[in-house]
Parts: sequence; C-alpha cells; structure tokens
Amino acid sequence: MAIIAPSILSADFGNLNKDIEMINKSDAGWFHIDVMDGVFVPNISFGFPILDAVNKKAEKIKDIHLMIVNPDPYIETFKNLGADYLTVHYEACIHLHRTVQEIKNAGMKAGVALNPHTNVHLLEDIIEDLDLVLVMSVNPGFGGQKFIQNTYNKISLTKELIIKKNSKALIQVDGGVNLDNAHQLAEAGADVLVAGSAVFNATNPLEMIKKLKITTEI
Ligand code: DX5
Ligand code: ZN
Repeated sequence: MAIIAPSILSADFGNLNKDIEMINKSDAGWFHIDVMDGVFVPNISFGFPILDAVNKKAEKIKDIHLMIVNPDPYIETFKNLGADYLTVHYEACIHLHRTVQEIKNAGMKAGVALNPHTNVHLLEDIIEDLDLVLVMSVNPGFGGQKFIQNTYNKISLTKELIIKKNSKALIQVDGGVNLDNAHQLAEAGADVLVAGSAVFNATNPLEMIKKLKITTEI
C-alpha cells in the first residue's frame, strides 16, 4: 500500500490546528507542505511562520516540496523547521548535485521534483544519491488541477531507472491524485501519493485518506 501524504495547501488556514490534528489521527503517513515563491511558480503559498506552526503540531513525517528558485540559502532553516524530506525542483537548481548533498549533510532526506515536461532520464547521474523522486502530475503552483495522463508512463520509467541504478529512492506523485487514479498510480510504481483537494474537499477527510490508502493495495 502507498503512503498517503495530504497536502496542507488545501487545508483551512483559519483553522490549521484542526486540519493538522485530523491528519495526525488519520491513516496518512506524511504531511506534504508546499512552499512557493511567486517566481518559480505563479503563486505564493506560505513561509517560515506557518511552517513553524505546522511543525509544532504535526506528529508525522514532514515532507517539504520547495517550488522556489535558489533554495540553497534556506536548507538549514528548513531543517530547523522540522523537515524530514526536503524536495527541490530539477528545473530550479543549476548545481543540483551540490544542493542534494547539502540537504543530506543537513540531516534530511533529499528529493528532486520533475515538472511534467522534464524527462526522467535527466536524473540518471544523480538518482543513486536521492531518497525521493517527485513526479509532478500537474504543472506546479496550484491545488485542484487536472491530472496529466502521461504520469503513469513516467512513473514506470522512473521505476526502471531506480532499479537499473540500484537506487533506494521512493517515487512520489503530486497533483490531481484522487480515488480514480490512486490504484493505477500504485500499480505503475508510486510509493507516496500526495493529495490536496481530494482530501480537504471531501465531506469526510479521514474516510477519504483511508479509502485512498486501501485503493492502492496491489
Ligand atoms: C501543486 C502542489 C500540490 C498540490 C496538490 O503545485 O505541489 O502539492 O497541493 O493539490 P491537488 O491534490 O489538489 O492537486
Ligand atoms: Zn506539492
């Protein structure tokens, strides 16, 4: 079964504690936390004070997805704010190898995210160093977008590369994940499914997380 990682981008920021507590007692494995800078993506999400508030309440693995240019100066700060996994975008890092080593040296697991148009084989020379590959199944920037079908194929190619290179990286999928595609994503090789609107727009988010998880059984 896949790990379910609710994205707090779709949470109610006026009642953040309530949504964090819901995730704490749910079948979710991770918290997925989206940081956007208005430069790499055409949207701004939230910054350090919110991350601090989440960190104080969240009792599960904290997976931070950085949609920002030039993440290097903030790596240590994210570590201090409780990040277990820190994921940067392939397209945002000129010296990706250095960035990945810095994340690991700071004591976190390192992830690299790929935009829908980015070929997974570009990770061939770094995949052995990665703990996570994040396959974006929408263009990053917003919750509630439509799932891109080519993602299944991309996950399979990522899985092949991981096996070929004997990498331990997990495959995460983010964007438009719901009950209609969760099973097929797991079948294609996804280990971690991020879900924002599917969880938080559900009448019963706890039940939705449980269903998403059960659906991924293969
Ligand atoms: C989009 C973010 C996602 C987003 C997913 O750029 O990276 O994590 O919250 O939201 P849904 O599940 O609604 O597509
Ligand atoms: Zn995300």
